[in-house]
Amino acid sequence: MPEISTSILTVEKENSSKTFYNLEVAGTDYYHIDVMDGKFVEKNTEEMMYEYANIIKQISNIPLDVHLMVEDVKENINRYIPLSPSIITFHYEACKDDEQIIKLINLIKENNIKPAISIKPNTPLNEIIKFLPMLHMVLVMTVEPGKGGQKLIPETLEKVKELKKYILENKLDTYIEVDGGVNKETINMVKEAEVDIAVAGSAIISAKDFKTAIMELK
Ligand code: DX5
Ligand code: ZN
Repeated sequence: MPEISTSILTVEKENSSKTFYNLEVAGTDYYHIDVMDGKFVEKNTEEMMYEYANIIKQISNIPLDVHLMVEDVKENINRYIPLSPSIITFHYEACKDDEQIIKLINLIKENNIKPAISIKPNTPLNEIIKFLPMLHMVLVMTVEPGKGGQKLIPETLEKVKELKKYILENKLDTYIEVDGGVNKETINMVKEAEVDIAVAGSAIISAKDFKTAIMELK
């Protein structure tokens, strides 16, 4: 059974603290913080997500799962370090070379945070395979990063299955997370691919009752 990381991308400012509280009561395993810089993706959520992450830190002990969809990865890692997130994920596509990737992984680790790399739907798995032993997790995007409420691209789950096979064959303990289009209709496909964490945004935030929505996914 995958853990559920709730994307708070579409949470409204008004009553946001109450929404975060309700998500904790409903049993979310993580708060998924979607940081977008208006460059790596069109939207800019930098200030809103930073504000939300700070509110959550004040009212909850549920871990933060930070997903950086940004060009300047280092700057954003440094910004989130003081909030002690459980996981920081950055995009492979935002990096210029292996040396930079290794430096970023180390920066995250040195601060007792779990490092993860994300790949977009069109990025092949073999590009990141060599980093697996250094990583806590790989986030396989199941939609194009940029916005919530999109349809899951089924082919991306083939990549998840391939990755799972590689992890088992090589006795690694890397987690797999998927993000985008996870809902009641797609969760069975996601479970079949044996992911460890499934991110869900609109399926939970637009539901009448968070608890039922999370329970149904689990
Ligand atoms: C997409 C984000 C996702 C997304 C999830 O760029 O990384 O976290 O908001 O939202 P849903 O579950 O609505 O696809
Ligand atoms: Zn995300």
